[in-house]
Amino acid sequence: MSIIYLQIKGTGSYLPQHVLTNQDLEKMVDTSDEWITERTGIKERHIAKGISTAYMAIKASQKAMDSAGVTPDEIDIIIAATITPDYLTPSLSCLVQKEFGADSAFCFDINAACSGFCYALDIADLYIKTGRAKTILIVASEMLSRITDYTDRRTCVLFGDGAGAVIARAGDTKGVMDSICCAVGGLGDVLKASVFEDYKFIQMNGKEVYKFAVRVNIETITQLLSNNNLSTDDIAYLVPHQANKRIIATVSSKLGIDSDKTYINVDRYGNTSSASIPICLDEMNKKGLLKDGDKIILTGFGGGLTYAGILLQWVGM
Ligand code: UT7
Repeated sequence: MSIIYLQIKGTGSYLPQHVLTNQDLEKMVDTSDEWITERTGIKERHIAKGISTAYMAIKASQKAMDSAGVTPDEIDIIIAATITPDYLTPSLSCLVQKEFGADSAFCFDINAACSGFCYALDIADLYIKTGRAKTILIVASEMLSRITDYTDRRTCVLFGDGAGAVIARAGDTKGVMDSICCAVGGLGDVLKASVFEDYKFIQMNGKEVYKFAVRVNIETITQLLSNNNLSTDDIAYLVPHQANKRIIATVSSKLGIDSDKTYINVDRYGNTSSASIPICLDEMNKKGLLKDGDKIILTGFGGGLTYAGILLQWVGM
């Protein structure tokens, strides 16, 4: 019996029109373009106005389906990653299904914060490998502006809104080669948000998250490489969760990964949580950066605390 693999066959993304620059933030809180740029690398972020998390998810999903040449009736599962859904129920994935009339799909959301896309890809890989599904829509959509306190300079400069999606299909050459998904619930208090408490916004110990991010990113990449007898030279691109340019640069330099192999767009979008990695993949795909056979490492970390990594071989679309 031949082995079935998950291959990414289409990508899409959506960023809301409104752009919030560092100069705009200078007028809202006691901060400066210089501080934000030096500490995070972020220059601007997109903010959703008058639209929903589902709207962004639907836009990104439509583009991913178009890019894969897939119609809604072919989709077996819709997995949505989000920590900022429009409703507790119906789920974001059910709202996407309804829009497209993808009635043969079953749908569920996962909450793994900024690791959400990697977790979703790992789950999709298992459904495909076991033959339970042939075509899966994975969409990550976040409206972090909903849970951001724009009077708190420690957090409001960091986050942005947006969505990214991929179509995953069963194929006979390796796409997803290896996955690592982990959680450290004991550290959950360092990054929290609850819509049920009086303070409904993100609360974060930035320094603790920073240290965690550098450590787990290095561990995850090292583990993926060693599990598969690869070195950093074998990797075409590192596509890390886009939270802070300094975290990404530290990880790349400690592992000896060239900066031109490390994809960064946090300067333009800020931290879009689970959406950041599929937004990167869509940009890279559109720019023609990804070649058949390229090995790519995706890494996520965030609330939970959670972290994850995927070793992916790009298969020509
Ligand atoms: O997706 C996962 C989500 N989170 C993350 O990835 C966050 C990871 N952490 C980080 O990216 C960094 O820790 C931050 C960018 C959040 C903060 O950078 P830092 O270098 O760790 O700064 P800090 O928190 O140590 O603050 C240094 C100073 C403080 O002032 P004092 O106490 O030294 O006088 C802060 O009050 O910078 C001050 N500060 C600011 N100043 C101007 C904090 N935020 C700002 C700001 N503008 N926006």
